[in-house]
Amino acid sequence: MEKIKFQIDNKECEALYGQMLVDAARDNGIYIPTLCNMQGTNPCGSCRVCTVKINGRYATACTTPVACGMEIESETDEIQEIRNALIELLFNEGNHFCPTCEMSGNCDLQALGYRFDIMAPRFSYQWPKRAVNTDCPYLIIDYNRCIRCKRCIRSIKDEQGKSYFAFLNRGDKIEVSIDTMMAKNMSKELAELAAKNCPVGSILLKGTAYKTPIGERKYDKNRIGSCVENAQLTAKMEELK
Ligand code: SF4
Ligand code: FES
Repeated sequence: MEKIKFQIDNKECEALYGQMLVDAARDNGIYIPTLCNMQGTNPCGSCRVCTVKINGRYATACTTPVACGMEIESETDEIQEIRNALIELLFNEGNHFCPTCEMSGNCDLQALGYRFDIMAPRFSYQWPKRAVNTDCPYLIIDYNRCIRCKRCIRSIKDEQGKSYFAFLNRGDKIEVSIDTMMAKNMSKELAELAAKNCPVGSILLKGTAYKTPIGERKYDKNRIGSCVENAQLTAKMEELK
């Protein structure tokens, strides 16, 4: 397949023609933060956390295929500030009580909060009133933490391709719902996948809370994105040997 050259923050990069920018960056050891994007499903560009500037214009890296000669700004102060504000807004818009959330340490939103040094809030908290759904045999769905990334809608489907999850309502009233009739017949494996694909603690498996102790969770010792950055460092060290 044809290879093309482009630049991210003045670093020469190479990618396969048509590769999405976020994946191409990762293959070149550059981490671009994401939340709604998930490998193996079509990107939907809903969270905007992967915002970059391409040849001077804003774009989302998860929905943009790389093209020859692109000049991309990613870790500039301006772009980092945009990402920082978007992450902060997600915290303020929902009810994210990290210290008591069983996904603490495994949550992508919390991990981005740490990576972007989010401290005192600049925007006011909305404290929305949201429900917790316990009707499904294997799942608890806590709408307080949902960031409406659509990962569940895009990835959790039955054999006919019908999604178990869907958006309800519009505008600021929009919320994810699950078809409880369908969910009654959801297999345990699919329920596990739904919990795994949710980037926050909104979809939880019943009976497994705190199974992985604090201190042994995904982001307890490694900040989000470090596996991409470390892979590049390891490759460089191998070259120097
Ligand atoms: S329930 Fe989880 S996966 Fe589904 S939209 Fe909300 S945050 Fe995303
Ligand atoms: S990861 Fe690109 S818009 Fe969400």
